[in-house]
Amino acid sequence: MSPSAPSRALWSSRLVFVLATTGSAVGLGNIWRFPYIAGENGGSAFILVYIACVILIGIPILIAETLLGRCGGANPVHSLAILAKRFGFAHYWKIIGWLALSGSFAILSYYSVIAGWTMAYMFRSVAGLFDQITVDGSREIFNLLVRDSEKLIAWHTLFILITAGVVGAGVNEGIERIVKWFIPLLFLILLLLLSYVFFESDIGGGLAFMFTFNAEQLTINSVLAAMGQAFLSLGVGIGAIMVYGSYLPGNVSIAKTAAQVASLDTLVALIAGIIIFSLVAEFALDPAAGPGLVFQVLPLAFGQITGGWVLGTVFYFLLMVAAWTSAVSLLEPGVAWLSESFSITRTRATVIITSLAWSLGLITVFSFSLPELMSVGDRTLFDWLDFLAVNFVLPIGGISIIFFTAWKMPAAFVRTEIGIQTELLRCLMFWTMRYIAPVGALMILIYQLHSSM
Ligand code: TRP
Repeated sequence: MSPSAPSRALWSSRLVFVLATTGSAVGLGNIWRFPYIAGENGGSAFILVYIACVILIGIPILIAETLLGRCGGANPVHSLAILAKRFGFAHYWKIIGWLALSGSFAILSYYSVIAGWTMAYMFRSVAGLFDQITVDGSREIFNLLVRDSEKLIAWHTLFILITAGVVGAGVNEGIERIVKWFIPLLFLILLLLLSYVFFESDIGGGLAFMFTFNAEQLTINSVLAAMGQAFLSLGVGIGAIMVYGSYLPGNVSIAKTAAQVASLDTLVALIAGIIIFSLVAEFALDPAAGPGLVFQVLPLAFGQITGGWVLGTVFYFLLMVAAWTSAVSLLEPGVAWLSESFSITRTRATVIITSLAWSLGLITVFSFSLPELMSVGDRTLFDWLDFLAVNFVLPIGGISIIFFTAWKMPAAFVRTEIGIQTELLRCLMFWTMRYIAPVGALMILIYQLHSSM
């Protein structure tokens, strides 16, 4: 297995790369997870820490990961091997690539199951199932879905198939084509929903919840949650961005692109939060409802609004599209690795990786439908998978990536590759990549390890 890059596809423009990377970043993490994590951690105080984590840790790692991909020019494992060889480092650095691949694979397996719910909810909304629904009724609909293995498997299968369809079609024919249409559509829907809550709902209540600063709600746990959320939401740490970076032409400024993607990603999370909390405020619902916020609480709001089924359908469609373009980026690293390692076709590689991820996804399915069977300690296997991936694999991957880039690779080379023209800004960014990002992430990781012992 020689780590040489065969001739590969390239993005046809910088814009397409921004769209694809934004598609990877904007997902369930922004619309489903961010609002409930913010809700549980006190809203505004959390959001402030979150933005600091994105700027000081997220963007530097995003830059580092794109840079490794572009300079390595291959899937994560081969990219690291190529770079280690080129700069004369030990070959075991490619372990970072292996960590990345296993992380993306594990996350895809459960991401697809949850994403399946968005499709199920879209159809329930069209069917008018949420009309005048009560709290108990809403819980019932949710439980009927997640306790039913067959339904979960069916939606999981459908979702992973539409993901595989895109990846199997290739970088230009598949990924580029869908992000060109669906990312603009996603923004359009988001703005439509925002204008709905602006004119018709309690946007004041939503804004107040999100932006009234409440210092005593800021705990060390919110800081931890904010960092994990930043990694998950930007989608850094496990090679998805690296493989997208490997299709990036050499003349594009990595820093500028990373800043744009991070800004769009944060904007979407904030807008989704405003939409959701305005509805929550209007109907005096529970903002700290946890993972059920989008699936159990929002239907109550949709059910009370006249014509709310349209709103609900559009909302779950938005969530599905966001999840779809993210899942594509989670599948791509494995497919790129398999097809480049064993010179098999992309289609075959897609079939193999998709089947494996689908099978692993059954663990998540049964964690919901048969939680008694699928628990270890006080968590289900799904909870473990999510907990380990978000709190350990992503930060460890991110720290290794930034350490390799900012400390191992020749500084002069990295400074040029970042692509910032202004001397001062370039130094500032390199300095942040060297000191702030890895040290910040490491401190939080150590605290995390300590507190979960
Ligand atoms: N960022 C996506 C979200 O917010 C999920 C995702 C896509 C991801 N690619 C990733 C998470 C890579 C971690 C690593 O839902």
